[in-house]
Amino acid sequence: MTKIELTPAQKLEIFEEYQRRMRSCVPWDAAMKWAPELNIVGASYRPFIAFPELAPSDAPVAELNPAEHADSPNKLFRYCIRLHRAGRRLLTWWGSQTGSVIFDSDVPIPAIFQCREGEPGLWNESPWMSLTPAELITLREGTRLAKGRVVIAGLGLGHQLIEVSRRLQVKEVVLVELSQELVDFYLPKIRPHLKKRLTVIVGDAFAVLPTLAADVALVDIFPNYGGNEAAMLELRRRCPKIKKLWGWGTATMSL
Ligand SMILES: C[S@@+](CC[C@H](N)C(=O)[O-])C[C@H]1O[C@@H](n2cnc3c(N)ncnc32)[C@H](O)[C@@H]1O
Repeated sequence: MTKIELTPAQKLEIFEEYQRRMRSCVPWDAAMKWAPELNIVGASYRPFIAFPELAPSDAPVAELNPAEHADSPNKLFRYCIRLHRAGRRLLTWWGSQTGSVIFDSDVPIPAIFQCREGEPGLWNESPWMSLTPAELITLREGTRLAKGRVVIAGLGLGHQLIEVSRRLQVKEVVLVELSQELVDFYLPKIRPHLKKRLTVIVGDAFAVLPTLAADVALVDIFPNYGGNEAAMLELRRRCPKIKKLWGWGTATMSL
C-alpha cells in the first residue's frame, strides 16, 4: 500500500475543518432534516437503549467482553452499545446523496449484529441495524405515512415499531419478522414501550405481506440502502390488499 504524506498545509486544513465542525454543533432533534454535513451536540443524542445494563464500548464486535454485549440464546444475534467517539465522522445518506455526521462528545449508539451465515457466535462486521442519525432520518419518512392498520416488516432494533405505535393516527400494528429467535430475544425488551395492539407474524415478508390487508406497510428488510426498487415494485404488484407500501432505501417511491 502506498503511504501518503500530508503536507503541513493539508494537516492544518483538516484540523481547522474539524474545529469548525465541533464548534458548530446543534442539539439533535427528532425532526432534524438531512444535510450533507450534520454537526450534533452529543449530550442531546440519546437513542432508545433496550439493555441499559450493558457498558458502551468502541471495541470490535467480536472482542466485546460479557458486560458489553447481550447474545440471543443460539448466538444468532448480538446486541451492544457502540461508543461513537467525539469528532469521528459517521456516514449518512439520503436518496442518492451521502454525507457525514459528527458529535461534539462520545455518544452511545445501540446496534444489533447478526452472525455470519451458518456460523452462530461469529459476527458480521457491519450491524444489521444501529440507531445512527442516518437510520433515524431515513426511517422517519416511512413512519410519517403510518395510519390505521400498519404492517411493519423487519423488527431490527424496533425503532420504527416504537415510533409507529406512538402515532395517534395508528390503530393497530402487525409485525412481520423472519427470525423467531430475534422476536423471542428482543421483542420483550420493547413491548412495554408499544402503545398499540400488536400482532406478530414470524415469516418471510415476501410470502406473508401478500396475504395481509392494511392501510400502510413499511418494509425495512433490505441490507442496503438503495437498489431495492425492483423488490418493492414486485411486492406492490403482489399485495393488492395493502393500500400504501413504503420501502426503506426506496425513499423516493411511496407506492
Ligand atoms: C434493518 S433491520 C429493521 C430495522 C427496523 N426498521 C428498526 O427500526 O429497528 C431488518 C430486519 O428485517 C428482518 N428481515 C430480513 N429479511 C426479512 C424477510 N424476508 N422477511 C421478514 N423480515 C426480514 C431482519 O431479521 C431484521 O430484523
